[in-house]
Amino acid sequence: MALPDLESLRELVNVRLDQLVPMGAQGGPAAAARYSLLAGGKRLRAIITLTAARTHGGKLETALDAACAIEMIHCASLIFDDLPAMDDAALRRGVATVHAKFGQDIAILAGIGLMNGAYEVLAKAQHTTEAQRLDMLRIVTRAVGWQGLVHGQALDLNSGESDAQIDAIHEGKTGALFIAAAECGGVAAPSVSEKDRRALRSYGRALGFAYQAFDDVLDQVVCDEAAGKTTGKDGGKSTAALGGEACIQSGTALANKHFDQAVKAVGKTAPLASLAEFIRRYFAATVAAA
Ligand code: IPE
Ligand code: IPE
Ligand code: MG
Ligand code: MG
Repeated sequence: MALPDLESLRELVNVRLDQLVPMGAQGGPAAAARYSLLAGGKRLRAIITLTAARTHGGKLETALDAACAIEMIHCASLIFDDLPAMDDAALRRGVATVHAKFGQDIAILAGIGLMNGAYEVLAKAQHTTEAQRLDMLRIVTRAVGWQGLVHGQALDLNSGESDAQIDAIHEGKTGALFIAAAECGGVAAPSVSEKDRRALRSYGRALGFAYQAFDDVLDQVVCDEAAGKTTGKDGGKSTAALGGEACIQSGTALANKHFDQAVKAVGKTAPLASLAEFIRRYFAATVAAA
C-alpha cells in the first residue's frame, strides 16, 4: 500500500497547532512555546496517530486534536530535555533552544503550559465522543507519567547503563509517546478491536525504540547544522558508547531489529509499515551522508 501523504498530514497538524496555542505576551511562556512548537518538527508522532486512525476507518478530524496534543507534549519534553539541568543544548529545530532565547524561567513555564494545554486539547478534542476523549486522556497521561516519559528521562540522566536499562530508557523516554500516538489513532476509529489496539501498541513500542536507537547514532555522527539540534550530548549512553564505526553498526543493527518488529506488528502491507520503512530509509540515508 502507498505511503501516507506525509506532507499534507504535516500541514494539517501545523495549521491546527497554530490555532491551539495562544499568541501570549511577547517574551512570555505562550510566545516561547509557539516559538519552539512552530519551528518545524517532523510531526512524526502526529502522523502516526493520523495514519493509525485512517487505517482503521477513522476520520482524520477525529484524530487531529489527539495528534496535536501529543506533539505539544513532545515539544514540551524537548524544551525540558534541552535545559542546562538535562542535556544543556543550544540548538533545536534549527533555532536557538527556548531557554537560550527566552531564559530558563520562561522555558520551564512554556513547557508546563504546553503539557497542560495538551490535556485541555484532549479533554475538548473536536469531533470525538466523550468515551473517546476519556480513553485518549487515559492513554496520554499514562504515557507521560511515572512509568512513561518521566521515568525514561530520569533513567537517561545516569550514563553507562546496562542493556536492560537502555531498553527501559528507550521504552520510557521515546516509546511511551509513540505507543500513545499509535493507540490514540486507533481510539479515533469507530470499530477498532482490542487486538488492533494491541498491535498498535506493539508497533508504537518497536518504532519508538528503533527511532531512539538511530537518534543516538545520529547524535554521534551528524553535525549540529545537519541535525538542526545540538549533537554529541548522548555519548556514553546506549551503543553510542562504542564510538565511531562500531557505534553506527551496532546502533543500526539494534534499530533495524525494532523496525522489523514494528512492521511485523501491523503487517507489511499496512500504511504504518510503509511509514516505518520510510523512517528506516531516512535514518540510513542520514547516517550515510554524515
Ligand atoms: C527528537 O524527536 C527526540 C527523540 C526522541 C529522538 P524528533 O526527531 O521527532 O524531533 P522533531 O519533533 O522532529 O523536532
Ligand atoms: C529527547 O531525547 C527527549 C525525549 C525523548 C523525551 P534525546 O536527548 O535523546 O534527544 P535529542 O537528541 O536531544 O533530540
Ligand atoms: Mg536527553
Ligand atoms: Mg537531548
